[in-house]
Amino acid sequence: MRIVVFQSSPRAGGNTDLLLDVVTGAIKETGAQMTIFRPHMMDIAPCTNCGGCDTTGECVVHDDMAEVYRAIYEGHKFILASPVFFFGLPSQVKCLIDRSQALWCEKYLLNRPIAETEHAREGLVILVGGMKKETGFRAAEATATAFFRTISVARHQSLFFTGIDKKGAIQGHPTAYNDVYAATVKLIEGWQCAQT
Ligand SMILES: Cc1cc2nc3c(=O)[nH]c(=O)nc-3n(C[C@H](O)[C@H](O)[C@H](O)COP(=O)(O)O)c2cc1C
Repeated sequence: MRIVVFQSSPRAGGNTDLLLDVVTGAIKETGAQMTIFRPHMMDIAPCTNCGGCDTTGECVVHDDMAEVYRAIYEGHKFILASPVFFFGLPSQVKCLIDRSQALWCEKYLLNRPIAETEHAREGLVILVGGMKKETGFRAAEATATAFFRTISVARHQSLFFTGIDKKGAIQGHPTAYNDVYAATVKLIEGWQCAQT
């Protein structure tokens, strides 16, 4: 099984990174293959709506998105871990998401969705943010949902960790590490197994 992880916080050693340690630990226990993308460390240009992918489903811009496209095609389970920035996702990962427009064209205009394999394409969204209200989280989660459906991830679970602002604050959260571990295991084992 191949797991694709998008680590979307540009703050090294921050709350998302700490939760990612839990994610990667859980994945390593299963022996699944894991690819981690950190968009803030990659060369990914923003989508300009040039229309180049409309009739082919292929982006005409050649940069680090090439390896992301490949991982999306070959992946089975997808994890997006991110802070909330201004009720949305950080601009670096938003660039990556916008560039999945090529896959949107392939799926919806050319009627060629990414094929299911023996492992259902499912996802997990993990969001941290400083605000106590979930309003901004829901807005960010809507973008993540649009991304996942575009790349033919049919369903996902979302975890929101509100009131987490300072670097390392997640360490004081009473359930975050357990929640993230359990959700990662559930994603890998399959939703039906986890429910029994
Ligand atoms: C540019 C910027 C915008 C932010 N906007 C929000 C927001 O709209 N809602 C929120 O809950 N937190 C917001 N925050 C707080 C971060 O989500 C919070 O500090 C989070 O813990 C950072 O996670 P990290 O340590 O993984 O980078 C913002 C932080 C920054 C730097």
